[in-house]
Amino acid sequence: MTKKFIIYSTPFFFLFGALSLFEPHIYRTVFASTSVDRLSGKDFTIIAHKGASGLAPENTMAAFKKALELNVDQIEMDARHTADEEIIIFHDQRLDRIARDTLGNRITGDVHNYTLQEIKQFDVGTWFDSQYKDERIPTLKEVLDLIDGQCKVLIEIKHMDHPHYHDFAEKLVEIVLQEKNGEDWIILQSYEPEYLDEVHELDPMIQTKALIVGEDSAPLLAFYIETRIHMGRAKESNRLKAINPHWETLSPRRVFQMHAKGYEVHAYPVNTRDDMIKMLNSGVDGIITDYPDIAIDLKKELMGMEI
Ligand code: G3P
Ligand code: CA
Repeated sequence: MTKKFIIYSTPFFFLFGALSLFEPHIYRTVFASTSVDRLSGKDFTIIAHKGASGLAPENTMAAFKKALELNVDQIEMDARHTADEEIIIFHDQRLDRIARDTLGNRITGDVHNYTLQEIKQFDVGTWFDSQYKDERIPTLKEVLDLIDGQCKVLIEIKHMDHPHYHDFAEKLVEIVLQEKNGEDWIILQSYEPEYLDEVHELDPMIQTKALIVGEDSAPLLAFYIETRIHMGRAKESNRLKAINPHWETLSPRRVFQMHAKGYEVHAYPVNTRDDMIKMLNSGVDGIITDYPDIAIDLKKELMGMEI
């Protein structure tokens, strides 16, 4: 009897195991509701991803100004460094996707191989729309001076495959501390907990935040394993109060688990009204989006305010 039970139940066991890997996908495509019925009065944090990057070229002063105009709760951006070790705001390791010279030719190569003076020549707006031809890669200091505590700032420390990384962490902390009450409104985040540890050692008052699961193209099994590894590493660090998972890895059960571990959950990148509603119905506390205008309208609707 026991032997038969094992033989017959084994395939179901594997089937259930395989299905659980697809849990977020099944939730999102089959069960997640796009109805706001249960969300009335729901407040949530709106984070402009790379500035208002659906409305202006990402990580530029134009995108940050748009996000400020919209009155978002937080602005997210990506920090890298130049060859002369200045901290700049730029997402990709390579310049190719976004940077052009004055003749419109694509600039190639890694951003950290150019000096700040060279980088300031590149046009990083035309790829998005010709009206932004004068946009340049900003320094972290320029962006922080613009925002000046009007909302919270979430700086993602991008992977620093560079011998001067340590100086980078020191410089970051120095720039944060130069801002008035910087420790209150500037938060550092990274996929690499050791980067956050280094910042924390330099100044324990600076707020840090873990990022988990970044590659939306990764197969589901990789998602699953990565989530577990990152959750485990984040757990060791009791100062991390919030987690930003990729929205395609979430389900109500997973959000519940993260809440049970004491984290706020901010999903990224959620770019349509329906997907925002799906995520809010799954229980997330915040939405990281390229289109903060859509999120602001939704929040006003849920809070019963005039749009
Ligand atoms: O805040 C999360 C998000 O910014 C991480 O992904 O690739 O947009 O920098 P990415
Ligand atoms: Ca980022």
